Amino acid sequence: MMASFRISGLSKSYGSNVIVDDLDLEIDEGEFLVLLGPSGCGKTTTLRCLAGLETPEAGRIEFKGQAVYDSSARLNVPAHKRSIGMVFQSYALWPNMTVRRNIAYPLKVRKMKDAIAAGRVEETAEMVHCGHLLDRYPSQLSGGQQQRIALARGLSARPDLVLFDEPLSNLDARLRDQVRTEIHRLHESLGFGAVFVTHDQSEAFALGDKLAIMRAGTIEQLGTPDDVYNNPATDYVADFIGMSNRLELRRSATGWQTGDGVDVLVHRDLPDAEAVVARIWPEDVQLHRGNEPLPPHAVALSASLLSSEFGGRHYDVTVAAGSEEFRLRADAATHGSWLRSSTAGEPVAISFRPDQMQVYPLGEVAVDRPLVAAS
Ligand SMILES: Nc1ncnc2c1ncn2[C@@H]1O[C@H](COP(=O)(O)OP(=O)(O)O)[C@@H](O)[C@H]1O
Ligand SMILES: [Mg+2]
Repeated sequence: MMASFRISGLSKSYGSNVIVDDLDLEIDEGEFLVLLGPSGCGKTTTLRCLAGLETPEAGRIEFKGQAVYDSSARLNVPAHKRSIGMVFQSYALWPNMTVRRNIAYPLKVRKMKDAIAAGRVEETAEMVHCGHLLDRYPSQLSGGQQQRIALARGLSARPDLVLFDEPLSNLDARLRDQVRTEIHRLHESLGFGAVFVTHDQSEAFALGDKLAIMRAGTIEQLGTPDDVYNNPATDYVADFIGMSNRLELRRSATGWQTGDGVDVLVHRDLPDAEAVVARIWPEDVQLHRGNEPLPPHAVALSASLLSSEFGGRHYDVTVAAGSEEFRLRADAATHGSWLRSSTAGEPVAISFRPDQMQVYPLGEVAVDRPLVAAS
């Protein structure tokens, strides 16, 4: 498919701080792209450059083959002339306007009188189940209703590209799921391209046709959710998407050792390096009680139980293997009866298949643990 929106070499600094650093990104027509990264990595700044709310220093932004920003041509098309809708974390509704006027606003700015006359405002309000709220003011709405109105305002002009800046972060868990599903459905029915910013990996996996994992102003990996989940490109990506189990392995005279100096058998070729970092999904780690026999050819470590939390069909279990902590999901049918009466410190073992490890050369890509916080 043709890339409808193309960002190339985009750079934006504040003072001497480079916030967006020579960034390239393409979004296909109708594609839902999720920009995932820790607070402060430049997600909002990138969106604001796309929308024309911020002037970059360098680069080019194209919408459907037409430049809307080009530093070398000194071209910068103003925000209201770009076919873009925006939905913010803070809703940002105009408090002195009714819901009707808020939703109509992008149509008025673009002089879309015919669409207003044809009932576009009412139709869009219905799409977000808020047709009955048109004469209210934002202060007379709940948080969930305000965010639905903000969504309607972002969509009323039927823009080619909709930019979402952490729109679900201020909603409570139940509403967040509902509005997330609504965004998904609206995208399917209206077919707009989307750039959806979040720092929440489950939101990213749930919504994205593609994920772009961002780090310090650049894209560290771009791929489908399946790609990114199964082949995180770097230790940083693995960490950020929740592949939380991390094991450093060092080459010894006879094989491989953990950082604690415990020998481990790894039935697999590893990179030709003195030390590597392995990442393993919690879902891929098996729990073994006491002296239970371990599966052959698995990577196995003895450990002790730290905690287990009931999750319905599973338990979320944390164990310590030497100085490393591992998280895993234990099936409740298999492990529930003993986990329920277990105590911290109980000896266990964990294992995983060697092909379930993602392996990176140690130190090649440093892990800076991201601050997971709303920005
Ligand atoms: N108007 C501004 N002036 C100066 N610094 C800014 C401005 N806007 C953002 N920044 C800085 O740019 C960095 C990235 O911000 P932002 O794009 O908001 O990141 P994110 O949305 O990924 O959390 C932050 O360190 C922030 O403090
Ligand atoms: Mg932000």
